[in-house]
Amino acid sequence: MLETVTAHRFGGIAQGGATEPAMMGCLNSRNEELDVYVKFSSNNCPSGGLVRDLIGCLVAKFLGLRAGTPVLVDVPLDLIDAIRLVSPSSSSRMQQSVSPAFGSISLGSGYQLFQRPVPSSHSIRDQIVEMWAFDQLIMNPDRSDVKPNCLIKGENLALIDHEKSLSIAGLGFLFFPPWDHRWAPDFRHLVHETIRGGALPLARIKDAWSRLDETNLSGICAQVPRTWDQEITKEIKAYLSDLHSNLDQAFINIEKAMT
Ligand SMILES: Nc1ncnc2c1ncn2[C@@H]1O[C@H](COP(=O)(O)OP(=O)(O)O)[C@@H](O)[C@H]1O
Ligand SMILES: [Mg+2]
Repeated sequence: MLETVTAHRFGGIAQGGATEPAMMGCLNSRNEELDVYVKFSSNNCPSGGLVRDLIGCLVAKFLGLRAGTPVLVDVPLDLIDAIRLVSPSSSSRMQQSVSPAFGSISLGSGYQLFQRPVPSSHSIRDQIVEMWAFDQLIMNPDRSDVKPNCLIKGENLALIDHEKSLSIAGLGFLFFPPWDHRWAPDFRHLVHETIRGGALPLARIKDAWSRLDETNLSGICAQVPRTWDQEITKEIKAYLSDLHSNLDQAFINIEKAMT
């Protein structure tokens, strides 16, 4: 179940991408301390972006992929006021943002940004194939060499940052969903060249997708806070429902594209 936590400490801004999350110390309902990367809607991430990041993470976890654990974050006004003293721009962005904010619990020490060359173990290879297939199906354009949005520690790969995925509205007439015969994969993906032409162990993740039925999908979408963009939530739900109905063809297409 998605937790709501309360921020009580500001540790600066995580650089690198467009939304630049704040690193915040937060307390959960059991008064446990959590380190959280917090995204605010006014930081190039409107509430539709928060919806995408949240649903992207929840679907990844549902499918059994390792991903940053999402939380909803309340930031008290007195903390926003105090942050004004050290970072006026962060403080005003927090003030202008929808509440709650989106949080991703820190994966912890030892995780580093994924870089090529890819370690050659079977376990890593299986994980990168599943990550690639996941990104094709959620139309995530944001896992590339420039922006891996994927962390690695030993044999463990972990996914973060899904706010550009599942962007269905406004895709235009050249958009073909993965189950359409005119669909083509995103060649810029971080591991596209690494896995092209090799074995594609997709049975596990396909089986997991098949369990994302109406009940499970409704359970995921119901966790989106009411203050966030409900229209986008509906669009994403409709897309994932269509994907579920057309799963066999989508997997035929993604396998064909890589052989
Ligand atoms: N759950 C997490 N655990 C560890 N590091 C994280 C986590 N979430 C974000 N980060 C760090 O913060 C950076 C920016 O976060 P990201 O979600 O990618 O936002 P942006 O939209 O700015 O790219 C990441 O590249 C990563 O270094
Ligand atoms: Mg990023």
